[in-house]
Amino acid sequence: MPAPLAYTPQIEAETAHLYKKVERVIPPIEWPVFAPQVAAINKLKAEKNAIILAHNYQTPEIFHCVSDIVGDSLALARKGAEVDADIIVMAGVHFMAETTKLLNPEKIVLIPDLDAGCSLATSITGADVRAMRKKHPGAPVVSYVNTTAEVKAETDICCTSGNAVEVVESLGVDKVIFLPDEYLAMHVAKQTGVEIIPWQGHCEVHERFTGDEIRAYRQDFEGLQVIAHPECPPDVLDAADYVGSTKGMADFVSEKQPKRVLMVTECSMSDNISTANPNVEFVRPCNLCPHMKRITLDNILSSLQTLQPRVEIDPQIADRARLSVERMIAIGGK
Ligand code: 13P
Ligand code: SF4
Repeated sequence: MPAPLAYTPQIEAETAHLYKKVERVIPPIEWPVFAPQVAAINKLKAEKNAIILAHNYQTPEIFHCVSDIVGDSLALARKGAEVDADIIVMAGVHFMAETTKLLNPEKIVLIPDLDAGCSLATSITGADVRAMRKKHPGAPVVSYVNTTAEVKAETDICCTSGNAVEVVESLGVDKVIFLPDEYLAMHVAKQTGVEIIPWQGHCEVHERFTGDEIRAYRQDFEGLQVIAHPECPPDVLDAADYVGSTKGMADFVSEKQPKRVLMVTECSMSDNISTANPNVEFVRPCNLCPHMKRITLDNILSSLQTLQPRVEIDPQIADRARLSVERMIAIGGK
């Protein structure tokens, strides 16, 4: 049994520069709980030549204090394919770790909790995709990266919310099968004019927002800018000032510096972005992704200590799934 971690003066000094990054969102009384684990994780990463990729929805102590690469799904896929480390820890959900493993088959890829899933990824199987192809012969299949490797293996090209329009336009066809997110599919159809055959998958976090809720916030907060993720229902997107991926949303805030902003997405996003935008007031509707929140400093530390749980993909599936991700990466992206 390793010795329990304690908040010593040495740990306090070692982590002081990291606390500076999160002091706006983590009260001083909470830091002694996080700091010993933050120090232990950063030490182990150096010893084992490991890096941590973190999605924008991770909590601030993970996002700002132990991660090496942060971003949206597209950035994590792209930058995760170029790393030099022997071990990659995904502080995100399972489909993100699978994408990383597809692009780094020789590396050890860890996901601190194997149950960190996604309602979109579980909404569809490889057999469902084969049935759709049969029903719509000749239509290419574009899959959101929020899918399992098994579904990616049945896919022509993947996309993320950051490049879905660009990917669909790159195909130069009139009709595509786009799955599994129905609302993203509708958004892409509107932006491109391409006929989209959707699947009825939804994100359990974003589908809970409503247009009425957005309008009520506008009434309560004068001068509010509303920025929404395209996984939200169409009435929410219609009520928003800007629609984009989590990176698009972060860029909107840092470039436009709105006085007040409502980020219609997962709760931790506002916390993570607020640290670099002290003059922006964040109105926080708090919809948590229960899957993203399965990742903690505790289980990141444990996965680095044990090098478990690992993400493994059946090689026959992996070879076909990798192609659909590589095709996406090859067409560029914002
Ligand atoms: P982004 O690619 O925009 O980060 O979205 C991923 C996701 O899971 C949103 O719910
Ligand atoms: Fe999946 Fe929604 Fe959670 Fe993103 S926020 S990981 S789409 S359940």
